Formats: sequence, C-alpha cells, structure tokens
Amino acid sequence: MRLYNDNPTLDRHEQLGENRQGEALFFESAQTQANPTGKQFYIESYGCQMNFSDSEIVASILGEVGFRPTRNVEEADLILINTCSIREKAEETVRKRLRVFDQQKRQKPGTLVGVLGCMAERLKAKFVEEERLVDMVVGPDSYRDLPNLVATAEDGEKGINVFLSREETYADISPLRLDSNGVSAFISIMRGCDNMCSFCVVPFTRGRERSRDAFSILAEAQELFERGYREVTLLGQNVDSYKWTNPENAKLVNFAHLLEMVAQVSPLLRVRFSTSHPKDITNEVLETIGRYNNICKYIHLPVQSGNSRVLDLMNRTYDREWYMERIEAIRRIIPDCAVSSDIIAGFCSETEEEHQDTLSMIEFADYSMSYMFYYSERPGTLAARKYPDDISLEVKKRRLQEIIRLQNQVSYRHNQRDIGKVFEVLIEGDSKRSDQEFCGRNSQNKMMVFPKVEGFGPGMYIKVRATEASSATLRGEYVPEFKLVEA
Ligand code: SAH
Ligand code: SF4
Ligand code: F3S
Repeated sequence: MRLYNDNPTLDRHEQLGENRQGEALFFESAQTQANPTGKQFYIESYGCQMNFSDSEIVASILGEVGFRPTRNVEEADLILINTCSIREKAEETVRKRLRVFDQQKRQKPGTLVGVLGCMAERLKAKFVEEERLVDMVVGPDSYRDLPNLVATAEDGEKGINVFLSREETYADISPLRLDSNGVSAFISIMRGCDNMCSFCVVPFTRGRERSRDAFSILAEAQELFERGYREVTLLGQNVDSYKWTNPENAKLVNFAHLLEMVAQVSPLLRVRFSTSHPKDITNEVLETIGRYNNICKYIHLPVQSGNSRVLDLMNRTYDREWYMERIEAIRRIIPDCAVSSDIIAGFCSETEEEHQDTLSMIEFADYSMSYMFYYSERPGTLAARKYPDDISLEVKKRRLQEIIRLQNQVSYRHNQRDIGKVFEVLIEGDSKRSDQEFCGRNSQNKMMVFPKVEGFGPGMYIKVRATEASSATLRGEYVPEFKLVEA
C-alpha cells in the first residue's frame, strides 16, 4: 500500500490519491478466514495515514461478523469509502467515487454503500439527504457499531452513527493488515486533535485528543515483529503530545518514553512516527531518537508558513524564530536527521513578503521533501469564521508553484549530498520499474533503488552506497559488509 508518493513535485492531493482512485485495500490471509455468511466487503481509503490505519480496524471488526475483504468492487455486498475532508478537492473526489458506486448498486441491487471517516463526521445525517445512495454514515469513533449499522441498513433503514468519543482508541482491536508489504505497518497511538489550527477541519472530524494505552501499543509492535515486520510507524495527528497515565502506578508515559519502549522491542525493528507538531517536539524526544539506532533519523515537522504573523493567524502557537530554533536543536542533537514539512500557500491575507518568508524557510530548514498545498477554506473552521479567503486562486496557485519549484531544488541538493555515502536500507520489495531491482528506505526515509543481490530479500537490512540522485530517489549499489574471518 503506497500512501505517499516520494515525488515532492506532486501536491498532496495527488500524493494521497485524492485525485485518483483510492487504494483498494486487501488483506490476503483474510481469504483463508472462516466466512460463514459468504459476504464480502470492498473498502477504499482517502486522506491521511490515520484513515488507512482505521480501515484496517474496520476490516478487523467486519471480519469478526463474517465479512471477507475483496479487491473487486463488483463482487462486494458492502462498499465502504473511508473519506477525507481536509481540502475541498478531497471531498469532490469522494463524491465522484460515489457516482461510480451508484452504478454498481444499480447493477447489483441490495449492495450497501457506507461512508466512513472525516467527511461522514463533518456532514453527518446531511450526507444521506445529499447522496441518496448512501446507506450508512459512520464517523471515525463509531466503527465498533458497524455490524449493527450494517444490520440496520439491511433492514432498509439508514444506519447513522457519528458520535465522537473522548475515550475510544480501538486499543483492543487487532487491525487486519490490508494490502501490506509484510515489512512495515502503522500503529495508531492516539486519536483526535486538541490544537485548533484555524485552517483545519480535523478537530471537528476527529474530536478530542486521546492517547492509547502504551502497553497495548507495545504489544502490537511486539506481535508485528514476531510476524516478520521490521518497521512500525507510530501514528497520530500530533504524536509528540502523546500522554498516557498508567492506572496501576499513576506513572506518566510521554512520547519520548513511548518511543524508547517501542525501540526496545528489538534492534531489528525500525521505529518511525508521524506527525510531530513543532510546539511539542522536546529535546527529550530528540535525545531519545539520537540514542537508538533503530529510531529513524527523520522528522516530519510541518511548518505551514515561514512568517510569524501568518503563523499567528493560523493559530499554530509558535513563530518563525521558535521553529528555526527547533530545527537547530535537531541539527545539534541528531546531526544526520532529515526533516520534511507541510506547507500552505496563500492563507488568508498573506502578502508577497510573507510568502517570501515561507520560501526562505524552505532554504533554512533544508527540507528533504514537503507536502505542499494551497489554502482551501473549510466550513466551520476558525479561519472560515474569522478571516476572509481573500487570496485569489491564481495567486495561490502561483505561490504554490514557487514553493514546489524551490522545494524540488532543495530536495535535489539534499539528495546530491548523499552521493558516495553508505546507508542501511530496509528492503521493501521490487522497485516499481524492474523486478531486477530492490527498493527500500534508508533511515532518513529516502527511497533507494539498487540491483538485486542474492541472499537478500524483503524485510532484510542491506548496506547500499548512493551513486546517483534525483530530487525523489537515490540509486545505489550493494556494499558487502566487512566480515572478520576466524583464523
Ligand atoms: N496534524 C498534522 C496535519 C494534518 S493535515 C499537523 O499538524 O501537521 C495535513 C496537512 O494538510 C496540514 O499539515 C496542512 O498543511 C494541510 N491542510 C490542512 N488544512 C488545510 C486547508 N484548509 N487548506 C490547505 N491545506 C490544509
Ligand atoms: Fe489540524 Fe493543527 Fe491538529 Fe494538525 S495540529 S490536525 S493541522 S488542528
Ligand atoms: Fe483527512 Fe481526516 Fe486525515 S480530514 S487528513 S482523513 S484526519
């Protein structure tokens, strides 16, 4: 399952599949599961990694009541679409897909269609008024209720549950790994978001922030490792504000502690995490990353804008100087760490000079890559209520192009500097272009492509020297490790 395209020239609409068909998720070994009802579900996911991770929870819940996943929408008795509301385009894509499912439903009467995720939460019961073909509307905290909602829909009524919870973390549900490469997996460590960034719809669609039981996270990581996985990504909207109190001894587990616990599962298990908020990334977290070879040297630290006035309007609660200081701390504490970002062009009232500050921040922070967007006003957000969306589409697009152009140059330069260096790569599988080549990531999250080497395969670590670089990929060659020969 590919979530992010590595090519930073694409904006995230494309990278996250918002402009194309979502990934049809599939769990291979589920085919061998008991399937007493003979019913099949098809699920498509849009949006962030949290949504993809949630779809795996949904698959597990449906598996319990006898639904088996299928890749083929035509076979499905139940069609689910896990939706995103982050920008207007994301919602448009979902509506287009619903038109396609409508046709499907006509060909196979009795097929049920359910809308899950953020758009379900945002539009609630309005969804079934607007889109008559929709049988179920299920918010991100209501997936346990899916079997009941399916039963309601089978009885010919609309199944709606958009209740947002303060506690739900699905901690006890073991996700069905959909379309997995068997090497890397997501672990959701928290849900919701308490940061009211003024442009953002997430606090409304995902509700209050809550952290999952640290021991259930650890158990999931352990189990994945035992099943052969070699990389876990700890997921949350703001992972560095993770906070969980152990009810047995009242001890607080913060994000740095959690990272350390997961890193100790095995030196062979890589640990990644996303997303970090600049206001919460502490030196303690950075020092923990620096101490463990298997905690990847890569931080996604979205800046959004390089200008302090705009950051204030965005309610990001840090300014340009604070952000720069955090970048310097990363360089000081973890010198080989790559940093990436999310950037919004053309936020309300942004001037040309303020836009220039964003450009200079890309240079300063030396991002290895960024996800770049132009501002899209979302109903109900603070910005929609307080600030006019007054930058014309033309100017937004031009500023975005300037940001993308510069980021490409910076990424290219970043990758060129890697030529000649040797990296440890976790092999993920064949490269996209050739079955004669492997691909995998280095610790800095850069994709490396290199000729296959006998004796190596997916899930194994290999040393690769970078020999060529584009702005998106490093090409390289195997470096045999020096072995001591016993006398
Ligand atoms: N929790 C993460 C972001 C999640 S949304 C964080 O705080 O970094 C992913 C990205 O979408 C955001 O970082 C932002 O760059 C972008 N985004 C969010 N709302 C947007 C909007 N209204 N218009 C354009 N881009 C937006
Ligand atoms: Fe949205 Fe801000 Fe929360 Fe990220 S931290 S999800 S941008 S409100
Ligand atoms: Fe989209 Fe919801 Fe994620 S709005 S980005 S799917 S949290």
